[in-house]
Amino acid sequence: MSVADAFRKHHHQLLEYLDAYREDSSLSPAELQSLRTFLLKDLLPHARGEERALYPAVELLIRQHGEATATMRVDHEFIEGYIRQIDELIGQIQQAGPEDQANARRRLRQLLIELYALLRVHMAKEERVYLPLFERHLSPEAQQRVFEAMHEESEEHGLTVVRELDVRSVPPPQRHPLIFETFEALRPGEAFILINDHDPKPLYYQFQYERPGQFVWAYLEEGPEVWRVRIGRVASPGSGHGG
Ligand SMILES: [Fe+2]
Ligand SMILES: [Fe+2]
Repeated sequence: MSVADAFRKHHHQLLEYLDAYREDSSLSPAELQSLRTFLLKDLLPHARGEERALYPAVELLIRQHGEATATMRVDHEFIEGYIRQIDELIGQIQQAGPEDQANARRRLRQLLIELYALLRVHMAKEERVYLPLFERHLSPEAQQRVFEAMHEESEEHGLTVVRELDVRSVPPPQRHPLIFETFEALRPGEAFILINDHDPKPLYYQFQYERPGQFVWAYLEEGPEVWRVRIGRVASPGSGHGG
C-alpha cells in the first residue's frame, strides 16, 4: 500500500467509526465512553498530526504544482450534492402520503444538519483565509469588480452546469444534432459547457432561429484554439436572451 493510500484508508476508518454512532440515539454508557476515547485519542491526534507533518509538506507542493483553491471547489461539489438531494427530497415530500412523509422529513432534517455543518466550515474558510487576503492586497476597484462579477453570475444566469460537451472529436455533420440533443435533455435552469475548436457562431444563430427565448449563451473562452460556451435552458421560456 502506498503512503497516500494509507492516509485514505485511515480517513475511511475514522469516518466509518463515527458513522456507526450517528444514527443511534440510545448509546450505552460503555459506547459513550468509547466514543469519547475515539474523538480524543484518534480523531484529534489525526488532525494535529496532519498540521504537524502533512500540511507543511503540502504547502510547498501546492505553491509549486497545485491550485490553492482546489480544496474549496471540493467543498462546493459537496454543497451542490446536498442541494440536489434536498431538492429531490422536497419534491418527494410534496407528493408523498403521510406515512412516507415522516421518513422523508426525518431524512430532510438530517441532510440540513449536514449541509449546515459543511457550510459553516466552508464559510469560515472563506472569511478567515480568503477575504483578509482580498481586502489587504486588492485595490478597492478590483474588489468591486469581483463583487459585481459574483452578482452577474447569480442574477443573469442562475444556471447549474450539469455537463460538458466536447465536440472537437465529433465529425462536423453530427455536431449540431448532438448539441441540440444535449440542450433538449436539460431541465429548465440547467446548462452545459460546449467545447469546440472554432467559434460556434453559426450554432448561435441556429439556436436563435429554432429556440428563440429559450436559451442563454455565454462565452467562457474565445479561442484561439478552444472555444467554451455555456449554453443554458432558461427557467421560463420568454425570459431568456442571447448574445
Ligand atoms: Fe485528515
Ligand atoms: Fe463558497
